[in-house]
Amino acid sequence: MKIIDSVKGAPDILPPVSAGFNAIEAAMLTTAQTFGYERIRTPVFEHTEVFARGVGASTDIVNKEMYTFEDKGGRSLTLRPEGTAGIVRAALSAGIPRGGALPWKVCWAGELFRYERPQSGRQRSFTQVDVEALGTSDPLIDAEMVILGWDALRAAARTAGKTFDADNLEVRLNTLGDRADRPAYHAALNAYLDPFEAAGQLSEDVVTRRHINPLRAFDSKAPGMAEIMANAPLLKDHISEEARDHHRMVVRLLEAEGIPIIHDDRLVRGLDYYTRTTFEYQATNLGAQSAVGGGGRFDGLAEDLGWNEPFQGIGLALGVDRTYLSVYGVPPGDPNARIAPAPRVEVYGIPMGQDALEPLFSLVTALRREGIRAEMGESTRKARALFKAADRSMARLALVMGDDEVAQGEVTIKDLSTGEQVSCPLDPAKVLSSIRQALNL
Ligand code: HAM
Repeated sequence: MKIIDSVKGAPDILPPVSAGFNAIEAAMLTTAQTFGYERIRTPVFEHTEVFARGVGASTDIVNKEMYTFEDKGGRSLTLRPEGTAGIVRAALSAGIPRGGALPWKVCWAGELFRYERPQSGRQRSFTQVDVEALGTSDPLIDAEMVILGWDALRAAARTAGKTFDADNLEVRLNTLGDRADRPAYHAALNAYLDPFEAAGQLSEDVVTRRHINPLRAFDSKAPGMAEIMANAPLLKDHISEEARDHHRMVVRLLEAEGIPIIHDDRLVRGLDYYTRTTFEYQATNLGAQSAVGGGGRFDGLAEDLGWNEPFQGIGLALGVDRTYLSVYGVPPGDPNARIAPAPRVEVYGIPMGQDALEPLFSLVTALRREGIRAEMGESTRKARALFKAADRSMARLALVMGDDEVAQGEVTIKDLSTGEQVSCPLDPAKVLSSIRQALNL
């Protein structure tokens, strides 16, 4: 019988790579918490409608990429392809808009699922750190969010001893105005696209989507579309004075903090819910999939999900896998990734003979309960193999116990780098204090 492989595009992230991956994720979450965002957990699946209505009918995500299934109760459920719609759904379910404590600022990290064509930097199962601020239209929060993402990505790079700065990380910024600005703009954009369609020059994806949301024409990768869109009317020339003022304020706040923003009039992002501030972080050392994160305002999303009053929001998501790829130069699922392993434990117990098993096991357990990372080798293995295993664990100390030690009520503490060793009475308190001293704790 053949073993069952992992699903295409759903890599396993194994030690020691997982330590580097987790450090990136933790640095991002810690940054969000520094900005006052609290961790939230929501289910990995939602009613399909949350994404169908929230993310939008013109998007690749909803049209092609959702893992949708019927549960045994006949409900249509979908594994989350992105986080924002589910977070807004959770806020509405909990009555947060009426709760008073606004803005509601939350963050989380977890897996997302999109049925995409796997390639470098693009998987079907991947991890994001997602940050959302709900119930606020203040441009200050928009600026805060862009800075948070920038700081989080920089902190993430530092965990790998690398630096993200203006030379290798771009922050692209645009404004998409308000929903009220859209009908007139959509009409202008569609009028611009009509003759291209009549001449058969529009790609199929744009022809099918432009009457749902013509903005999608800006992120079509089909041949010839970029040239056509180069002269298209721009949304920024069709937005209200209020949205313009909002954008000016965001830009001012970001410039004052030295964020190296690049104004990108054609940045629309692949989700339909965006309004006003829209931004993306791109790592310049990645190829086609260069976005390591992105976000924006979604002032109408709560209404799309059935809330009958305005409940604005803004957020971002950072791709942990792509950030890892950018800073380590290999994808986290690469079995050939050469990542230096870190010490797994500090102390390794080596039982030489069956009589040592029980007293040594008690000592190792006592150390663990004192927060000292410790492991014990199998008593059936030979001494040589046990010392090899201790080296592999990168422990600094070995606790060695053979027949002599058992007979004398002692244990040998051996420094694995210098070879020095001392005997210690078989008393957990004494062993603990010697070990603490040797480890400089
Ligand atoms: P997104 O741009 O679709 O935004 O995803 C954010 C980041 O997740 C991307 O920049 C990328 O780094 C990573 N990512 C997306 N798809 C994949 C994939 N197939 N494989 C690997 N990494 C991927 C959102 O998801 C929005 N919910 C962000 C947001 C939050 N907007 C407002 N609030």
